[in-house]
Amino acid sequence: MSKIQNRKKDHVNLTVTNETQYQLSSGFERYRFIHNALPEVNLNDISIEAELLGHTFSAPLFISSMTGGYADAGPVNGIIAEFCNQHNLPFGVGSQRAMLEQPELTSTFSIVRKKAPKAFICANIGGVQLIDGFSDDYLKRLVESIEANAIIVHLNPLQELVQPEGDRNFKGVLNGIEDLVRRSEVPVIVKETGAGISKYVAKRLLNIGVSVIDIAGAGGTSWARVENGRTDDSNRYNHFNEWGIPTVDCLKDLSGLHWERGFELIASGGVRSAHDIAKAMCLGATFSATAQPIIKAVVEDGYEGLESLFNTWSNELKMILLLLGCSNLAELNRSHLMERI
Ligand SMILES: Cc1cc2nc3c(=O)[nH]c(=O)nc-3n(C[C@H](O)[C@H](O)[C@H](O)COP(=O)(O)O)c2cc1C
Repeated sequence: MSKIQNRKKDHVNLTVTNETQYQLSSGFERYRFIHNALPEVNLNDISIEAELLGHTFSAPLFISSMTGGYADAGPVNGIIAEFCNQHNLPFGVGSQRAMLEQPELTSTFSIVRKKAPKAFICANIGGVQLIDGFSDDYLKRLVESIEANAIIVHLNPLQELVQPEGDRNFKGVLNGIEDLVRRSEVPVIVKETGAGISKYVAKRLLNIGVSVIDIAGAGGTSWARVENGRTDDSNRYNHFNEWGIPTVDCLKDLSGLHWERGFELIASGGVRSAHDIAKAMCLGATFSATAQPIIKAVVEDGYEGLESLFNTWSNELKMILLLLGCSNLAELNRSHLMERI
């Protein structure tokens, strides 16, 4: 197994444990919903359908980019793909870098399109891989291997720095994304991986034509913890375990810009319940995403685990809407929340 394949496998094994979750909170507990004792809504009439990039999905839940690129990843990707196809949810595959460098790994990704012929599937590549240009051949394979509906570019400078074998040069990532946006025939989404996107960074992304931003803030999976978990004591950077902007602070920081520029804003990073999703949408998010609960459910209980998690979250999201007196997600706004003192 190559170094990248080993790393991707370590990531799955480590992220299903609680030790790789931030102690820092994503911030959702800072808010309470304002209960509506007179909702005047029938639970059966409530819709949790949500739109992203012109598509209507059954719920505002994006299954964040995760696996691929090592031999056992195929079945995990296959389960997620089948599930998303069945339930009309969007999802992203994990970084396709390994596949671009080792074409024999393509099947661990291409399985998703076979299992999910109708689903909205996103390709994934690191911003660092776009420095110095991204060849036409790589771009073609990135998209065609999974017949991608969009490309996700992930930003992960914290993870790279903590990873002993990680990248150290981040000069030219923005230019690389701009070039990709210009050349790609499918939309480009930019996401962090758990350390958050500030207003300053979001503005620079919007200025080069990015129209969907996934903040992936701190409070869920800590990639410093994951990488520290892969090395021995002498190579650990434990002081960075809690580095990052909590998801709720990203949302608050970006809310004005969101109003002004009208881009699509995905809230992720420590989204762990329907309550978190609803609070994120009250704070201005257009969609939400989650990673760790999904991989944990698949690793522990396969397809059924995923189905059980989704049923719980969907039912609870409907209950929350009813208790706020709303019949759909578009009615959620800041007036439904009070700050805890
Ligand atoms: C096992 C695993 C592998 C991941 N691999 C990738 C990846 O290849 N590309 C990427 O953009 N993000 C990757 N991520 C990061 C997630 O997409 C997400 O941004 C991050 O884990 C924060 O969300 P969470 O708190 O819900 O886990 C991975 C996450 C997990 C749990």
